[in-house]
Amino acid sequence: MGLEADQLDKKALSLAFAALSLRCVECAALYPGVEAQPRYRCECGGVLDVEMPFQHPWPREMSPQEGYDALAFAENDLMPLAGAAWRQLFDERTARSPIWSVGGGSLLLDHSGVWRYRELILPLPNSLIVSRPEGNTGLYPVGIENCGDGREGHQRIGQFAGVERLFLKHEGENPSGSFNDRGMTVGVSMARVSGARAVACASTGNTSASLASYAAQVGLPCFVFLPAGHVAAGKLAQTLAYGATTIQVDGDFDAAMRLVEQVCNELGVYLLNSLNPYRIEGQKAIGFEVLQQLDWQAPDWLVLPAGNLGNTSAIGKALLQAYQLGLIGHLPRIASIQASGANPFYRSYLNAFASREPVQAHTVATAIKIGDPVSFTRARRVIEQTNGVVEEVSDEEILAAKSVIDRAGIGCEPASAATLAGIRKLVGRGVIKRDERVVGILTGNLLKDSVTGIPQQPQNAPLAANIDAVRKLLQGFM
Ligand code: F0G
Repeated sequence: MGLEADQLDKKALSLAFAALSLRCVECAALYPGVEAQPRYRCECGGVLDVEMPFQHPWPREMSPQEGYDALAFAENDLMPLAGAAWRQLFDERTARSPIWSVGGGSLLLDHSGVWRYRELILPLPNSLIVSRPEGNTGLYPVGIENCGDGREGHQRIGQFAGVERLFLKHEGENPSGSFNDRGMTVGVSMARVSGARAVACASTGNTSASLASYAAQVGLPCFVFLPAGHVAAGKLAQTLAYGATTIQVDGDFDAAMRLVEQVCNELGVYLLNSLNPYRIEGQKAIGFEVLQQLDWQAPDWLVLPAGNLGNTSAIGKALLQAYQLGLIGHLPRIASIQASGANPFYRSYLNAFASREPVQAHTVATAIKIGDPVSFTRARRVIEQTNGVVEEVSDEEILAAKSVIDRAGIGCEPASAATLAGIRKLVGRGVIKRDERVVGILTGNLLKDSVTGIPQQPQNAPLAANIDAVRKLLQGFM
């Protein structure tokens, strides 16, 4: 249920939101951060981006504009100070081990890989935050040089990619098994702030599982719109188990997305796709956590799969903010990887973003089977601002990369493997250099799709339960 107005700490809320606004990424129109009727788009149809001033953790007052201006000057001696103060704040929070209070009153926000960075995410009063907690996902060193002694399995990933220092950040280790939880903790918290009576999303399966989980936590009715017949079984099972109402749409993800936006605007349901700008704020934490895990030594490249383009937008925004705030000393380049059958962003990139054409999407990686990405403009800006690149990979390349990640004992779902396939391709083309430091994002858990690209057990007769039968069977394997 949405919170009643008198339950809210009104003073804390109005303070928190006073400086928050939404800016259109197309025409730069500005709107309040929270309105009676939640706003997902500008009047011009453009998507929106959250803007807020940062209260720097040092005792000097700066307006947001002064802050950004200061950051633009390399010679400004405040920035190293500010960056060090931010790093110290986040590192201290991470170092404290979590202690659960028996009373259940405290939310352990410092233990969430999203809310640990709350000053850079969203200034919400603690009482309104819905958290599992999320984040704190593994960062695996898997390059030829940095994989660690005797880690042959992991080293094979580096050899496949052709990269000496490679890390894979596994967002499939989030509570519901995908990166979505980072956006959803913020989005569902905002749904409560907005007094939402119900929440909804369109999904290729992971967003729906995540939303269903967070909605269940606070007892909000949840409706998910799925492209009928195109969602992996594990994701559908999760969504149903968490109690969401699933609505199978006769059409693809793009059709379901258009429908859910209309439903939310006309029926007063709160929309939780990454079109919702607050989801993007939560997903920024992937970027902050990677940087912190690397002791704030920014990598040269950050590579990720791209479908609806929320992650490209969010991680790019995080890296830019981290750089502007002095948390890191240089800005990594972003590489967004699309499946070649679902590649509208790649096609537009080849054209220097001069035009934008939706495509009819086809790929085995159902999570990124998206032909008309909602966050296109946000992501284009990120590619331009980070001197980034967009690449495409075929289904065969995705499945080959998935097999390497799976056999290394890490595992991921097909869409995530686009990351490694993309790194290999970009190294082959000389765009990523063998000795550059590269972080690849794996977005979803292996168990999400237990069929695509996974060797299926041959249907042989059950083995007799005796040692001789086993001895015979294992001949040739050892
Ligand atoms: N990887 C996985 C595992 C995903 O589930 C998605 C998107 C992406 C990559 C692409 O990320 O949209 O930010 O570019 N899944 C959404 C869903 C569409 O409904 O679960 P993006």
